[in-house]
Amino acid sequence: MTAKRNTPVALIRNAAPFAIRAERASDVVAREALLDACFGDNRHTRTCQRLRDGRAPAQGLSLAAVRQDGRLVGTVRLWHVSAGGRSALMLGPLAVDHDCRGLSVGAALMRRALDVAKARGHGAVILLGDAPYYARYGFTAAKTGELSLPGAFERERLLGLELVEGALDGAWGMITPTGAPLPKSKASRTRKAPLAVPHAA
Ligand SMILES: CC(C)(COP(=O)(O)OP(=O)(O)OC[C@H]1O[C@@H](n2cnc3c(N)ncnc32)[C@H](O)[C@@H]1OP(=O)(O)O)[C@@H](O)C(=O)NCCC(=O)NCCS
Repeated sequence: MTAKRNTPVALIRNAAPFAIRAERASDVVAREALLDACFGDNRHTRTCQRLRDGRAPAQGLSLAAVRQDGRLVGTVRLWHVSAGGRSALMLGPLAVDHDCRGLSVGAALMRRALDVAKARGHGAVILLGDAPYYARYGFTAAKTGELSLPGAFERERLLGLELVEGALDGAWGMITPTGAPLPKSKASRTRKAPLAVPHAA
């Protein structure tokens, strides 16, 4: 008897179907290459990277979009932070292979990430990104106006989404990393840069 496949697959217009699944250790090289292509070699200097350096992403919230042929074409990860004392997740980077854009890969990654975050009981998600893109998922600057990042950033790009009503009420102060430290062997491979630049993802 053939086993029923449960892999969530989204059909896209002109290409092979893709699936959103948990990231695997074997995805790392393809993920890093995709991020270099999307954000450039200096992406490690970005302000939000300061919230990720030496930290593990939140459990269950490293996702990959893969085509039917197995090629990784999208990635998103979320990280534990304290948002001025409020427990939250920081989303980013989100990236989709240039050849696969406009096919809802980004939307599928975002929806899955937000669903998983909610199912795991997280109260809020914060990110630094383009408001016109993230507004479709409910992100606004309504409750992030009193928050800061550990480096330069553009205020209008700091956005939040409450998964639990009121989770960002009164959020004030610095956003700081709270995720589990990476094991030393992995942390020492993390590239670090001395300066932070404003357009972080
Ligand atoms: C942003 C990104 C992840 C979107 O991925 P995608 O798979 O093309 O997204 P979707 O197919 O789900 O959505 C496409 C829609 O988003 C819109 N969009 C994409 N980037 C946008 C942006 N920066 N601002 C506003 N709208 C944007 C497209 O115009 C399109 O609009 P439509 O639905 O009205 O046609 C992808 O363009 C990407 O990787 N960009 C480079 C990295 C990046 O900027 N990451 C986000 C950090 S802010």
